[in-house]
Amino acid sequence: MKSIFRGKHFITLEDWNKDEINTLLEVSSDLKKNFAMGVPTPYLPLQTIFLMFFEQSTRTRNSMEAGIAQLGGHGNFLDTSTMQIAHGEVAKDTAVILSRYGHGIACRNCFWEVGNKYLRAMAEHSTVPVMNLQCDLYHPMQGIADLMTIKEKVGDMKRLKVSIIWAYATSHKKPISVPLTQALLFPRYGMDVTLAYPEGYELPDWVIEKAKKNALDNGGTFKITHNMEEAYKDAHVVIPKNWGSWVTNPSEDVVDDLLNSYKSWKCTEEMMSIADKDVMYMHALPADRNNEVVNSVIDGPHSIIYDEAENRLHTAKAVMTLTMGGK
Ligand code: CP
Repeated sequence: MKSIFRGKHFITLEDWNKDEINTLLEVSSDLKKNFAMGVPTPYLPLQTIFLMFFEQSTRTRNSMEAGIAQLGGHGNFLDTSTMQIAHGEVAKDTAVILSRYGHGIACRNCFWEVGNKYLRAMAEHSTVPVMNLQCDLYHPMQGIADLMTIKEKVGDMKRLKVSIIWAYATSHKKPISVPLTQALLFPRYGMDVTLAYPEGYELPDWVIEKAKKNALDNGGTFKITHNMEEAYKDAHVVIPKNWGSWVTNPSEDVVDDLLNSYKSWKCTEEMMSIADKDVMYMHALPADRNNEVVNSVIDGPHSIIYDEAENRLHTAKAVMTLTMGGK
């Protein structure tokens, strides 16, 4: 497969224009159909991608590892605590060396005010594409899978009311990268995006400005509310998910008084009942069950979480297929 994307980094979808994102969606759908039919897709024979993880993962690691195997290549999993990074080796040296050994580098580094800078430093020095497996700011692999899932379910995404809603959770202090990516991406497809959160859980100002511009340029809308009911009301898609108060409080403490004052921000049957009758419930996972969401919703008829998670495989394969290639 020839591609104009060869060597292009995948750090944020903001660096990919809509034609490029649409191609990613088309290739993802092709790969999904072939996977379902058992048709081999060895587009990256004998190619190696290095998969560097500073944090835990279920979906991202396994969609990349299974994905590169299905493309005919090899994924080399790297727990960064076992690399010389642990002794201070810098991003430049790691990127130069790994790009001489293989065909792609992918990395998850979610440390606040560190992760994105680390990925950008690797991209500056790598001669192979660098893929973001989630950083402190962006999760483009999740964003493209979410977009594919919504498109599969509704077709025309214009004027769809999609609500990105903060939810209470205690499992760990989560990055802002999932809601941030969705807030920037969905308005580019003409959706009516509502971002709802209690005060203290703001996304950066530049994100809000860019999300509004993306809406203006593409016929959608973007608004913020601190009223949870307003976000659920008549929504076609709800994405209730926890994120940390990183912008207002960079402390790594998981539970504090601010968090505990918003236990009522939970996705319940009552909230779902005021949404559109065909509302879809999405979550990037892992979910903090009984805190973010009640089981009857996440396991109920409106939940599309497993289709969403499955699409992580097909979209990951599309990103690798389009960006990796002969040297
Ligand atoms: N959604 C997501 O990125 O899942 P993992 O943390 O399991 O990779």
